Amino acid sequence: MDFTLSEEQLMIQQAARDFAQNELLPGVIERDDAQKFPAEQVKKMGELGFLGMMVNPKYGGSGLDAISYTIVMEELSKIDASASVVVSVNNSLVCWGLETYGNEAQKEKYLTKLATGEVIGAFCLSEPEAGSDATSQKTTAIDKGDHYILNGTKNWITNGNSASTYLVIAQTDIEKGHKGINVLIVEKGMPGFEIGPKENKLGIRGSDTHSLIFNDVKVPKENRIGADGFGFKFAMKTLAGGRIGIAAQALGIASGAYELALKYSKERKTFGTEICNHQAIAFKLADMHTKIEAARHLVNKAAWDKDNGNNYDVSSAMAKLYASEVAMETTIEAVQIHGGNGFVKDYHVERFMRDAKITQIYEGTSEIQKIVISRSLIKN
Ligand code: CAA
Repeated sequence: MDFTLSEEQLMIQQAARDFAQNELLPGVIERDDAQKFPAEQVKKMGELGFLGMMVNPKYGGSGLDAISYTIVMEELSKIDASASVVVSVNNSLVCWGLETYGNEAQKEKYLTKLATGEVIGAFCLSEPEAGSDATSQKTTAIDKGDHYILNGTKNWITNGNSASTYLVIAQTDIEKGHKGINVLIVEKGMPGFEIGPKENKLGIRGSDTHSLIFNDVKVPKENRIGADGFGFKFAMKTLAGGRIGIAAQALGIASGAYELALKYSKERKTFGTEICNHQAIAFKLADMHTKIEAARHLVNKAAWDKDNGNNYDVSSAMAKLYASEVAMETTIEAVQIHGGNGFVKDYHVERFMRDAKITQIYEGTSEIQKIVISRSLIKN
């Protein structure tokens, strides 16, 4: 077993670290306050190849492995989780799904622009009444021969207004249940497609989360990905990879908060000594570091499974479940170590604490991950 990163992975890590320090850190507090989407930073991430990391270079991607992707996700999330979620959704939920299941014409038309960051994408599964219970789709895509007519509402869509290409999951044949669900490529600007209100969120406030409304949107049949009825499997397969990205995001949030807490504990003095010399603080640091390392191993294992052609449904669920719990616990402790300063925006840790929460919710709540893991244990 070899835990060392390759030369290439170390270079990618350094590039992501430099980018996060130089381009994401300035203004991160202001963007969070103002709920400002990091548009310029996203453009630069596209230029660096971070938006199509695992995509074949023939479609404009960087052709890297999933481990490299998690390294970049961790480094970006150590500074700005609102920016890193754009990277996660574009890579895992949009580019990967299109490259793996799309046909050549769809890849030529949509994938290259998405992989280079010329445009960004959104993945549209959740609805007002279909979050965890994802088969209960109310959005309909009625087959009209050479096109579908799409009607319904999607909720909490990341990149909701910033995206140009949307992968929309919808029910075509209710009688067939989940086997009657399709996934359609929908373009911004198609008549009848409206962007709904922006959500005012607890965390990842720089990311752009909207509801989407479809009123008789005419979508050509050539925009359906895969065979008729493949939409639910598409969503499940895509989300399994997405969970690796979110697990890496959670890992980065935890690491970012831990590093700030460690630094602060070596500077701040109480009772005549730096607070890291108090066992109450030192033991917190030991716990935080141990849990972060354990989370990193689970994230690496899930990415390694993906890179090696193994099934990663369960390893990605375990990585996301654990890393997101660690992100929540670690960021709460980082605020505690900072004391009164932790409650103040300038010290960043309160933002990490707010940002951590979503990692336990999106791309499958912690409870959904436990369903995925336990069902597999019982079945096998
Ligand atoms: N791979 C392939 N097929 C899968 C699969 C997988 N990982 N998981 C399930 N399926 C298949 C099943 O085999 C079954 O097909 P068959 O009948 O042909 O065997 C079908 O899908 C239905 O599966 P279940 O009976 O297990 O379905 P269920 O209703 O019990 O739900 C669930 C399963 C795992 C709970 C699923 O509903 C789920 O993952 N829910 C959470 C959804 C989610 O993660 N939403 C996040 C929204 S996206 C987001 O957050 C993006 C963002 O913007 C950041």
